[in-house]
Amino acid sequence: MPFSLEGKVALVTGASRGLGRADALCLARAGADIIVTDILLEDDEQNDATSEKLGPVSQIMVQSKTVYTKSTTQQIKDMGRKSAAFKMDVTNKEEVERVMGEVISQFGRIDILVNNAGTLDHTARLEDQNDDYWNRDLNVNLTGAYNCCKAVWKYMKEQKDGRIINMASVAGTHGGYGQASYATTKAGILGLTKSLALEGAKYQITVNAIVPGIINTEAFQFTNPSMRNRMIERTAFKRPGEPEDIANAIAFLSSKEASYITGVALPVAGGIDLFTF
Ligand SMILES: NC(=O)c1ccc[n+]([C@@H]2O[C@H](COP(=O)([O-])OP(=O)(O)OC[C@H]3O[C@@H](n4cnc5c(N)ncnc54)[C@H](O)[C@@H]3O)[C@@H](O)[C@H]2O)c1
Repeated sequence: MPFSLEGKVALVTGASRGLGRADALCLARAGADIIVTDILLEDDEQNDATSEKLGPVSQIMVQSKTVYTKSTTQQIKDMGRKSAAFKMDVTNKEEVERVMGEVISQFGRIDILVNNAGTLDHTARLEDQNDDYWNRDLNVNLTGAYNCCKAVWKYMKEQKDGRIINMASVAGTHGGYGQASYATTKAGILGLTKSLALEGAKYQITVNAIVPGIINTEAFQFTNPSMRNRMIERTAFKRPGEPEDIANAIAFLSSKEASYITGVALPVAGGIDLFTF
């Protein structure tokens, strides 16, 4: 690692799999202690009902027993870092505040917040849009990130130091056919990021967004194969990114070397956002 996060405490949301899990492991490799949070925990008796509400990808992950919240914590401890796992539904404001408070009492500080939790499991044209999914996407992707920023803000303000990294998407910068709800939430994330960057500067809190293109996570594997191929063809590299591509960018934005970078929307998208022909 060219930069060190030693002595820092990072909290990652939606880290039971995919990008969140890769981010947690990467920040730990860079030296940070890690709080792994997700609405799903291994062996939680509420998982079946929760995953049914979350949608098809989560249902498959629960049924195939591939929820890795606590086990990621163990992997991080094996690297010699401190780590803890918490069940945290980002849409539940009280739970978010309680978990952040618990982290402060156990770890003393929160230096880095990665707002990763998200839903990306459905597409529908406007006339077919299911209102429940519309509301769920707004609640998880946008209000969830807002809840976490709000809960961590007072601690970062007191510390006069903080790094918040929000997960946007090229759907938010470019729109997406059949992705009105998802794209709206990710465009909203950019507004949240830039506004909080302005408010955080006087406390040395930086707020940035990563704008992933298509990244090879479980959620991506469950997309319709012909749609998946069309998306891959649109990248300049003709391949999807790997979770570590996102995690490395997050580790950099979390470092002291990135302390003059705030309010950016950094594409990690393999050129999917470029004009190709
Ligand atoms: N994979 C991609 O190609 C891609 C592209 C652009 C943006 N993103 C964004 O990156 C993030 C992660 O994507 P992924 O591919 O790893 O998705 P994923 O579906 O595999 O992971 C999402 C995680 O969020 C958790 N989660 C869902 N609702 C939650 C809630 N209410 N509270 C707490 N946790 C909750 C899930 O349990 C899961 O662990 C998302 O915000 C997504 O929009 C991903």
